Amino acid sequence: GLSTAAALSRRPPATGAQLRSALPLPPAFRTPLPLPAVLKPVATVGGVDRYEVTQREAAIEILPGVRTPMWTYEGVFPGPTIEARRGRPVTVTHRNELPVPTVVHLHGGHTTAASDGYPTDLVLPEGRHDATHMAHHMHDMPGMGDPRAVVTRLTRDYTFPMDQRSTMLWYHDHRMDFTAPAIWRGLAGLHIIRDEEEEGLGLPAGDRELPLVITDRAFDGEGGLLYPSLDPGLRERPGVRESYLAGVLGDVILVNGAPWPVHEVDAVRHRLRVLNASNARHYELEAVTDDGRRLDLVQIGADQGLLAGPVTHRSLPIAPAERYDLVVDFSGVPAGGRVRLRNRLGSGRTREVMAFRIARTAADPSRVPPVLSRDLPSWQRPDAARVRDFSFRAGRMHGGHGWLIGGLPFDPARTDVTTRLGDVEIWRLIADVHHPVHLHLVGFRVLSRGGRAPRPHDAGLKDTLSLRPGESAEIITRFTGYRGRYLFHCHNAEHEDMGMMANLEII
Ligand code: C2O
Ligand code: CU
Repeated sequence: GLSTAAALSRRPPATGAQLRSALPLPPAFRTPLPLPAVLKPVATVGGVDRYEVTQREAAIEILPGVRTPMWTYEGVFPGPTIEARRGRPVTVTHRNELPVPTVVHLHGGHTTAASDGYPTDLVLPEGRHDATHMAHHMHDMPGMGDPRAVVTRLTRDYTFPMDQRSTMLWYHDHRMDFTAPAIWRGLAGLHIIRDEEEEGLGLPAGDRELPLVITDRAFDGEGGLLYPSLDPGLRERPGVRESYLAGVLGDVILVNGAPWPVHEVDAVRHRLRVLNASNARHYELEAVTDDGRRLDLVQIGADQGLLAGPVTHRSLPIAPAERYDLVVDFSGVPAGGRVRLRNRLGSGRTREVMAFRIARTAADPSRVPPVLSRDLPSWQRPDAARVRDFSFRAGRMHGGHGWLIGGLPFDPARTDVTTRLGDVEIWRLIADVHHPVHLHLVGFRVLSRGGRAPRPHDAGLKDTLSLRPGESAEIITRFTGYRGRYLFHCHNAEHEDMGMMANLEII
């Protein structure tokens, strides 16, 4: 066997080995696509919608006939969707009934630092809030110091002003050093913001608007989730530790928690709101008919809302945490036909994502107008108060290998960047291997990629930028709204846990 220390002395490979499930995998395109439940507010007080979410363990049927123990929001995976309206604040009270502390972050949310889910602002599990238990939970959290000094609650209220453009956000766990296994075990859900601008466009709506949360997972012989750091036996197996360092890949593709599902649709335009909630897997999506025709993926929105106008793609790369708002027109596909959503980066079973079965022709009142949004920020290079450089590279960390930003692993006690509220900045980013770079609080525009103009999929306002191996890019943003301590990090969740995160202080 390979000791962890020996494994750690090796440089992490660029891509992880794919974990292999020990169960027979179900056939593709048989499981119906589930749609995440929409959470109802428990109260509306003074124009604020108040929600409650209990985080608890649940055994969930992911593979047909098999129960998978998971960590969940409200007993479901993905967690229930919060449907919010622009300008109408939302409060979510999270109660932690899991065996470990948790942190909730609304990815892409514009909110105060207190509600942003800083990795040490814990929601403690019930009955385990004494210092001894804390020390036990946190012994392996470097830089944490005295555990009693950490901000902790049994429940925690997260407040979101919703003073931002309509778009699809997602909430997920963000505990320091343990984000990747917590998301892998199920702690992720959608949070959609709507507004009148968007509703006036005539986009496909109702059951013709589909949220698609794409994840990969691997299962042990009993149907439990395989994950290297949860299983010492697995962790020590040759190759697996390296795979953990690179980012964990599963051999089962799930959409909304179902393996390679199928969804019946009318032969009309559909709006597909796609989130890659995988820990480390990149996809390049294409929609292919059974006779091999590729349907256009008409992009109408990015991470942070509608584009100025639609952008048409033949295929579309999507990195962990990125979202794309797409319209696909099934009207050219005969009833009884099928369109597969495929992953050009996959091989074998991971080449497939899901399928749409075309049930019947139908009237289509929807449209995709040439102008989608007029409220995109127009920051230009001369607006920038300063330019900063950040490298995202492998390096030494705590005596082994880790992932570093600007040569340093994450330290909650160190401020990496201080900026002023309202300043516009340009950030130049460079990567060794594939790193999806995410900034909390703000959206940004891509100014350049690889020394050239941004690519078609860089359009609009984003909060996560997929930096490809060896690539550099420039982004421009403005730090608005709130002062305090925020984060930026790699959203390969294993890279994030192994140091690739930094503090951003807005003063
Ligand atoms: Cu979705 Cu700090 O992340
Ligand atoms: Cu990374």
